[in-house]
Amino acid sequence: MVNVLFVCLGNICRSPSAEGIFRACVEREGLSDHIVIDSAGTGNWHVGNPPDSRAQAAAKRRGIDISGLRARVAKAEDFHHFDYVLAMDDENHADLSRICPPGREDRLALFLDFAPVLGQRHVPDPYYGGAQGFEHMLDLIESGSGELLAHIRRKHL
Ligand code: 4NP
Repeated sequence: MVNVLFVCLGNICRSPSAEGIFRACVEREGLSDHIVIDSAGTGNWHVGNPPDSRAQAAAKRRGIDISGLRARVAKAEDFHHFDYVLAMDDENHADLSRICPPGREDRLALFLDFAPVLGQRHVPDPYYGGAQGFEHMLDLIESGSGELLAHIRRKHL
């Protein structure tokens, strides 16, 4: 079993979108029995809340339902359970490295580092912008998910 955790700041825009899109990708390839997926935030403002309505709508337009997800905070124990703890940007990465238990640093990475072909290392935070930001976020996440799954297949399955 391979365990994957996506992490952003609020766990209401980027990481739940990545959870939903990557899960759909994994299901499409018939790998649901091999890969466990979750998401979390480094901040606690939105704990217990569903994804931002704009993120839900954007995902729905691509056939993905993320309405059932609920925000939670990333914690040190996540580094024991998850093989991949994937940050959306440098700030998330820095916050995660502060709670990462010694010896588990190799589990922490930037999500888009698995998709070097994109030439972009961050999924920008769409929270304070317009609808276009959510579309761009999903484009990056869709490409990143395909590359991440290819990596996991090569390495683990
Ligand atoms: P996310 O977006 O990190 O992609 O979930 C944000 C959501 C909420 C806030 C910031 C970013 N906030 O400041 O409340």
